[in-house]
Amino acid sequence: MKLIFLGPPGAGKGTLAAGAVDILKVPHVSTGNIFRGAIAARSELGLRVKSILDSGKLVDDETTVALVRERLAGDDASGGYILDGFPRTIPQAEALAGFSAVDRVVNFDIPDEAVLERLGGRRTCKNCGALFHVLFGKPRREGFCDSCGGELFIRDDDREEAVAERLEVYRKQTAPLIGYYRKKGLLLDVDARPGAEIVLENFRKVLGI
Ligand code: AP5
Repeated sequence: MKLIFLGPPGAGKGTLAAGAVDILKVPHVSTGNIFRGAIAARSELGLRVKSILDSGKLVDDETTVALVRERLAGDDASGGYILDGFPRTIPQAEALAGFSAVDRVVNFDIPDEAVLERLGGRRTCKNCGALFHVLFGKPRREGFCDSCGGELFIRDDDREEAVAERLEVYRKQTAPLIGYYRKKGLLLDVDARPGAEIVLENFRKVLGI
């Protein structure tokens, strides 16, 4: 199954994807993770996009589309994928339609207050990228990942100013994709407000799996 996860920053896309890949047996393709990986590796791409991510703005469409196109050409994505954080603009969606036909677009329905609470307490593993939260998903040992023991950190773009910018960018450039995909009959709304396990159940229900 070829899915897009669409929703504001901090809606829980990465968290749900971690559970959904086990059910669907498809890779989780997160453009945010790809960019953060490039930054950590100090590659040419990473050096170019670091200040853009830190500010909460979007990387240009051409760079992002080329990355996703290359990633989806991988053998592991031939039977399906979960695209998390892509497309984020109408031009990205149009470009994607030119090289892959998605089956469904899962829209995370969540108010801004919940998003702010989730981003404010997010902790991410430096090593494997696993996600935790100071209130809603505490690690067993404070400051360290349950899966690999790696150190947990706060993302630079989870600072207050960057979060405000990301929400603004979401409203202006990404939210129009809700109507775009609804018109195509591909959109499924998932109530993303409850705890992670219930969101996974809601996801299964809307997809009928
Ligand atoms: P990206 O990494 O995609 O960030 P995002 O869309 O802003 O999403 P987040 O990763 O912040 O949140 P999420 O929805 O995955 O929530 P999570 O599961 O972590 O992009 C980062 C940047 O890269 C962009 O700003 C841009 O610069 C660039 N970029 C990426 N894609 C691009 C594109 N296509 N074009 C151009 N630029 C691009 O959950 C958040 C927290 O809440 C966690 O702590 C988690 O434990 C907790 N939580 C999750 N679910 C629940 C729940 N149900 N109940 C309680 N707590 C929960």
